[in-house]
Amino acid sequence: MENGLPPLLGLIGDTPLLPLHFPERGVTIHAKAEYLNPSGSIKDRLASYILLDARRAGLLAPDSIIVECTSGNTGIALAMVGAALGYRVRVLMTDSASVERRYLVQHFGAEIVLFRADSGYKTGIDMAERMAAEDSRVFLPRQFANPLNARDHREHTAREILAQMPGPIDAVVSGYGTGGTLNGVGNGLREVYPNIRVVAMEPAEAAMLQGEAPCCHAIEGVSGGYLPPLLDGVAIDRSEKVSSADAIAMTQRLACDFGLLVGTSAGANVVAALRTAETLPAGARIVTFLCDRAERYYSTRLFHSPPASAIRPAEAGGSS
Ligand SMILES: Cc1ncc(COP(=O)(O)O)c(C=O)c1O
Repeated sequence: MENGLPPLLGLIGDTPLLPLHFPERGVTIHAKAEYLNPSGSIKDRLASYILLDARRAGLLAPDSIIVECTSGNTGIALAMVGAALGYRVRVLMTDSASVERRYLVQHFGAEIVLFRADSGYKTGIDMAERMAAEDSRVFLPRQFANPLNARDHREHTAREILAQMPGPIDAVVSGYGTGGTLNGVGNGLREVYPNIRVVAMEPAEAAMLQGEAPCCHAIEGVSGGYLPPLLDGVAIDRSEKVSSADAIAMTQRLACDFGLLVGTSAGANVVAALRTAETLPAGARIVTFLCDRAERYYSTRLFHSPPASAIRPAEAGGSS
């Protein structure tokens, strides 16, 4: 990579846009394969964009400690980019995040501090602010409020989609953690297609945009019991509720029918995109995101409820 930056950073972004055809519905959903980013999630974009910006602005010193509250994927991404750039990283992670996420963060040499998931992301965000107040070496990327998070999606993710999908785009569907994707991609696509529908996927158990109280759900990476400020920066047309069971079933279908090794929120986003298709004229063009990789879910319900297609009666006759 140019300017003496680590070559790793050149692997981030420019992910393919995959047309996924669902013949029983006659619908094609266009899914951005963010799970192909080098640490395995869409969060690699934010980690590299915010840390490089901080470096250019002189906000990072050799002894800086990068501290962030995260459901896990941002922690893995910051740990990876921090390792490549030579910075110490401390990740404040919910105790509900899969154990694979913890292993990956530690594998990059970063520290982990756990906090209780049932208290919501606000607990971790406040903890990070306290650490920064007490230690001048701490740098906070502040993914939940940092406008650079949304700007990166507007300048890069949205532009990639526009280049990959010439012609109109009718809807974009995404879950939200920080709201950076919905804000940046929603606004970036709306600049070109003013009538586009921006649809938020929410776990049925935590549909806060529909005024419901957040509760426990199995769609990791989204809806952490907190409505992030970045969501205020985009006009959301609708929220589509998806149950954890439907998300898991679709994620298994993405593996078994499409060969896609993706995490639970990818299934949830596709379910929400298919429901969005029902509200639009036939042939509507809908974009969504496959946000992360399946391998960080071995210990979760995704791998502990066998896909329907795998449960077949034993074949009669034959020997091995
Ligand atoms: C695993 C995962 N990470 C991140 C995101 C998007 O998050 P953000 O709102 O922080 O951009 C999603 C959205 O569906 C997701 O499923």
